[in-house]
Amino acid sequence: QTGKFTYDPGFTSTASCESGLTYIDGDEGVLLHRGYPIGQLAEQSSFMEVAYLLLNHELPSSDELAKFENTITRHTMLHEQLATFYRGFRRDAHPMAVMCGVAGALSAFYHDSTDITDPKQRMIASHRLIAKMPTIAAMAYKYSVGQPFLYPDNKLSYTGNFLRMTFGVPAEEYEVNPVVEKALDRIFILHADHEQNASTSTVRLAGSSGANPFACIAAGIACLWGPAHGGANEAALNMLHEIGRPERIPEFIARAKDKNDPFRLMGFGHRVYKNYDPRATVMQKTVREVFEALKVNDPVFEVALQLEEMALKDPYFVEKKLFPNVDFYSGVILSAIGFPTTMFTALFALARTVGWVAQWNEMISDPEQKIGRPRQLYTGPTQRDYVPVGQR
Ligand code: SDX
Repeated sequence: QTGKFTYDPGFTSTASCESGLTYIDGDEGVLLHRGYPIGQLAEQSSFMEVAYLLLNHELPSSDELAKFENTITRHTMLHEQLATFYRGFRRDAHPMAVMCGVAGALSAFYHDSTDITDPKQRMIASHRLIAKMPTIAAMAYKYSVGQPFLYPDNKLSYTGNFLRMTFGVPAEEYEVNPVVEKALDRIFILHADHEQNASTSTVRLAGSSGANPFACIAAGIACLWGPAHGGANEAALNMLHEIGRPERIPEFIARAKDKNDPFRLMGFGHRVYKNYDPRATVMQKTVREVFEALKVNDPVFEVALQLEEMALKDPYFVEKKLFPNVDFYSGVILSAIGFPTTMFTALFALARTVGWVAQWNEMISDPEQKIGRPRQLYTGPTQRDYVPVGQR
C-alpha cells in the first residue's frame, strides 16, 4: 500500500546508498520512518515500537511489541567484567569517550553474535546493542559522579529503566516520573534515525568491510560526538547560558553572521533541512510540557524562544534558510530533567544506536553490498623522481 519515491538522475548518481528506513524532504521539512511521519510517531508511538519499526519494516502487533520489549529487556545487563573496564577511565572523562570505549570493548565480549552473514546473529547483536546502550550511558554518568552502578530493573520500561539507572541510588526507592519518562521516550524517538547523516554513514562505511558490529557502533559514537553533529545539543545549551538574557541575543546573532568570527548559532542550520526541522517542532512543544509539569522557570527557554524568533526574522538566516534543528531545544529539556550537559550527546548516541543498527542490518543483508570506497579529486603534485637527501 505504500508508494515509491522517484529521484532525478543527478541525485541518484550522488547518493551513497539505497535505503528504505528514513525519508527526508529537506525543502518541505518532512521526515518519515518507513513512511510514518515523525510527528505522528512522536505523539502516538513509543521508542521501543519505533525501534521495532526501523528494524523490522512494519509497526508491530501488540504481541510482537511485547516479545520485542522482552527480548531487549533481557539483554540490558553488561558482562560484570565490563564494569571494571570503567575503572580505567578518569572520573572526569567525557561520557562520550567512555561510551566509545565501552561500546568498542563489547566486541571483545561477544564473539558468538558476530557471524554477520547469519541474519539471526545480526539481530542478536542489534538487540544487544539497543539493550545495553542505556546501561552503558547510565554507568558512564554514575562513574563520573562517584555513585555506585545500579543494575537494570526488568519491571521498568526501556526509558524508565534508564532514568532509574541514571538517577536512582541503592539507598532509596526511585520513582519514575511519568511525564519525564514520556518526554524522554519522545526525545529518543526524535533521535532514532536520520537517513545518511555523518555518524550513520560512518557506521555503514565501517560495517561495509564486515567489521564487528560493536566496533562499528563505537565508530558511530566517535563521529556523533563532534559539535557540528550530535555534540551540538551540548554546545547549544552552553550557548544559551552564555547569552544569559534576551537583551544579549542581537550580539550573538551579529557574531553568527560575521564571517571572521568562527561562532555559529548552535542548534541552527542543517545540511539537508532548508526548512524547519520537524523534530525541533516536537521538541519545542515538549519543553513546554516538561517545564509545566516540573514547574521549571529557567529563563533559558525564554532566551531560546526569543533567539529563534529574532533569527527567523533576520535576512541572513532567512536567505540561507537556517532554521532550528533537533539540537536547539533538546538540551533545555534534558537539563530540566536533571542531566548534566556532558550527558546530552550520550543520550543522542543511546537513541541513535537504533538507527545505526537498523541501517547496518539493511546494508549487510544486501547480498550485493560491497566494501565502501569513496573516491577523491587529487590535488597534489604530478609524478616526479626521488631526490636523495644530500641533494635537497
Ligand atoms: C545534527 O545530518 C544530519 O541529519 C544530522 C542530524 C542527525 O539527526 O543526525 O540532523 C543531527 O547534526 C544536526 C546539526 C547540529 N549542528 C549544529 O547545530 C551546529 C551548528 N550548525 C552548523 O554548524 C551547520 O548548520 C551545519 C554543520 C549543521 C551544516 O553546515 P553547512 O552544511 O555548512 O550548512 P550550510 O551549507 O547549510 O550553510 C549555509 C551557510 C554557510 O554560509 P556561507 O558559506 O553560504 O556564507 O549558512 C552558514 C554557513 O556558514 N551557516 C550558519 C549556521 N549554519 C550554517 N551560520 C551561522 N550559524 C549557523 N548555525
